[in-house]
Amino acid sequence: MLEITNLTKSYASPGGTLDILNGVTLRFERGDAAAMMGPSGSGKSSLLYVLGALDAPTSGTVTLDGVNPFTLGEREIAKFRNKNVGFIFQDHCLLPQCTVLENVLTPTLVSEVKADYVARAKALLDKVGLSARLEHLPSELSGGEKQRVAIARALICEPTLLLCDEPTGNLDSSSAAQVAQILLDLQREKKTILILVTHSAELAARFPRRFQLVDRRLAEQQ
Ligand SMILES: Nc1ncnc2c1ncn2[C@@H]1O[C@H](COP(=O)(O)OP(=O)(O)OP(=O)(O)O)[C@@H](O)[C@H]1O
Ligand SMILES: [Mg+2]
Repeated sequence: MLEITNLTKSYASPGGTLDILNGVTLRFERGDAAAMMGPSGSGKSSLLYVLGALDAPTSGTVTLDGVNPFTLGEREIAKFRNKNVGFIFQDHCLLPQCTVLENVLTPTLVSEVKADYVARAKALLDKVGLSARLEHLPSELSGGEKQRVAIARALICEPTLLLCDEPTGNLDSSSAAQVAQILLDLQREKKTILILVTHSAELAARFPRRFQLVDRRLAEQQ
């Protein structure tokens, strides 16, 4: 379970403190899939960074299955992220010199959990429809295909939490719909908590839970 309690996030800036999030309280169970929308600059990416333990909140707590990562040391936080959190960004961020299969395996290089990651990577690449592209370089793939590699990479360590920041923002509408469907299918199968930021109302409508970030808080739509 992901529990967010009374979260605030502010940034220091030369013009004074910027208050971005204020009093965000939410709870997600395993298997939840949520879409988050809100105006540009409202703090959606900032919230994802805090939820994924990439950036500390100004106040409030975030716990994943009872663990508050911000109480851990730096090395332990990195381990926590590697084990529990998958990220997918608008830009796929694949390593250009590595093949599709190698890219999917990169998070496992620092993982302390032993598993047959090559078999798992191949199974995931099959699920995202890329089993014929294992040895391709990212430059030899379409935008939608690259984003599907990023999905497989985000899931290779079987995270509890999958955070997606406008993952379909650079794709045409049919690739976007395909990527979104793959995300939702895999999330359901693996019982991951999926939180996806999007500017597309059409995409958000496919999610069981939907939130709007307004006035520094998240309001759930009924
Ligand atoms: N490291 C930082 N230091 C200072 N201000 C920041 C920092 N990161 C973000 N901000 C500010 O915080 C606000 C929220 O930024 P954020 O990137 O979370 O918005 P967003 O909702 O993701 O927007 P978009 O839809 O454009 O991606 C913005 O006004 C931004 O300028
Ligand atoms: Mg953003």
